[in-house]
Amino acid sequence: MSIWRVKPVAAFEADMKKSDLKRILTRWGLTSLGIGAIIGGGIFTLTGIAAHDYAGPALALSFVIAGIGCLFASLCYAEFASVLPVEGSAYAYAYGTVGELFAWFIGWNLILEYMMGATTVAVAWSGYFVKFLHLFGIDIPIWLCNDLATATEKIIEHNKEFPTQLLDLPSFAFNLPAFLITWIVTGVLIKGIKEAASTNNIIVVVKVAVVLFVIIVGAFYIDTSNWHPFIPEAIPALDEMGNSTGKMNFGFGGVLTAATIVFFAYIGFDAVSTQAGEAINPKKDVPFAIIASLVICTVLYILVSLVLTGMVPYSVLDKAAPVASAFSEKGLTWAVFIITLAATAGLTSVMLVMMLGQTRIFLGMAKDGLLPKFFKSIHPEFKTPYKSTILVGAIISIVAAVTPINNVSEMCSMGTLLAFAMVCIAVMMLRYKKPELDRPFRTPAVYVVGTLGVSFNIFLMCFVRLHTWIAFLIWGALGIAVYFLYSKRRSNLENNDIIEEEFL
Ligand code: ALA
Repeated sequence: MSIWRVKPVAAFEADMKKSDLKRILTRWGLTSLGIGAIIGGGIFTLTGIAAHDYAGPALALSFVIAGIGCLFASLCYAEFASVLPVEGSAYAYAYGTVGELFAWFIGWNLILEYMMGATTVAVAWSGYFVKFLHLFGIDIPIWLCNDLATATEKIIEHNKEFPTQLLDLPSFAFNLPAFLITWIVTGVLIKGIKEAASTNNIIVVVKVAVVLFVIIVGAFYIDTSNWHPFIPEAIPALDEMGNSTGKMNFGFGGVLTAATIVFFAYIGFDAVSTQAGEAINPKKDVPFAIIASLVICTVLYILVSLVLTGMVPYSVLDKAAPVASAFSEKGLTWAVFIITLAATAGLTSVMLVMMLGQTRIFLGMAKDGLLPKFFKSIHPEFKTPYKSTILVGAIISIVAAVTPINNVSEMCSMGTLLAFAMVCIAVMMLRYKKPELDRPFRTPAVYVVGTLGVSFNIFLMCFVRLHTWIAFLIWGALGIAVYFLYSKRRSNLENNDIIEEEFL
């Protein structure tokens, strides 16, 4: 059963020694990359809908729930990163433990996480950028900063609101800012990891400073009566047609739904593990950075949600720009400018790390023979996988320009949840099968933490909409087909016949 063949740990170590990538990332550099990938569209955008429609002031509780779930997965990631500090992340961990097909399937799902994640953020970036320009009186035509479906929806809304200034419905639309920012980030990534890391560090400083600014300045405007009742009474959630969606607005059910929405805000801590090939001391620093970045962001998120829901009644929070709206409600218009600017910059760094992660996973898969050589072609001067970076940039820019954000963000969450669950399973298996391996970081109570991690991630997958499930299953079937038609035969393990052990 060659689909269960496992890549020997020694082979990973040999790959690491041969790596052409530059090892320049320190412990805090890695943590900064983690924060760069985490704080973004989730806190700046999705908190709006999560508080307004589902959790109310209990948004902070939703962040606690989603944060605890991610913590389980992060502890498992950290142990793996300490055993196998290679660039393939969850894909590589599965290859070293469960087997090739399982690993391939994780890699295939990580494409959803990183590529669809970056696509979602490119669209969110465009939204903030348009708002930023608007502050200076510059307005881009709706058809030039949205996909066709969203542009049509916005024009219909505009026509309802301003019947005297009717706009024609568009027959063509293209999200130009999302397209352009993707190519700018692609350029930075091709130029080099050092440039990418320094750009990221600057943005992270700005982003964290603004989040602290929101917490500290906002705290002075908290009116604790806005927190009562903390969990508003539950009501069934209806769709636009007035039919039941099976979900609850508010109540504890609403808090859980909000937790699935704000889960997106945590995605990114795992991206640190894709940079192991560029870390100076990966075995110790990657686990540290994974956990540190997640814990720092969790604390910030909880404080921001308490401040926002304390500043204004949750029903007043804007769904698209909740942080800015809370400050503008209080008449702090100067703060809106700072927040919009920081959100625009902050979203850029999320894209940077997500796209970086994607190319490193492709690199890991190509080195193992499961993807064509194209994906491991390193630029002689910049030492970056430039060809695959250009391909990733091209796909993201086009998808972001023409697709509605909801569709891509849900696919991103699905791929991530499955990858997290698979990592939790794989870390428990590795403990069982190879207890003797050197583990600079050990997940505490691994069987409890791992089981809770799997349960949590699968539980959240149940909340995703049916059509996303269908798209997800089609994507999965396509992945299996590619494996059997291409990757299995070209795998290094097939050609060198290094089969360490059979799982079944
Ligand atoms: N966590 C990232 C964000 O919120 C994906 O944008």
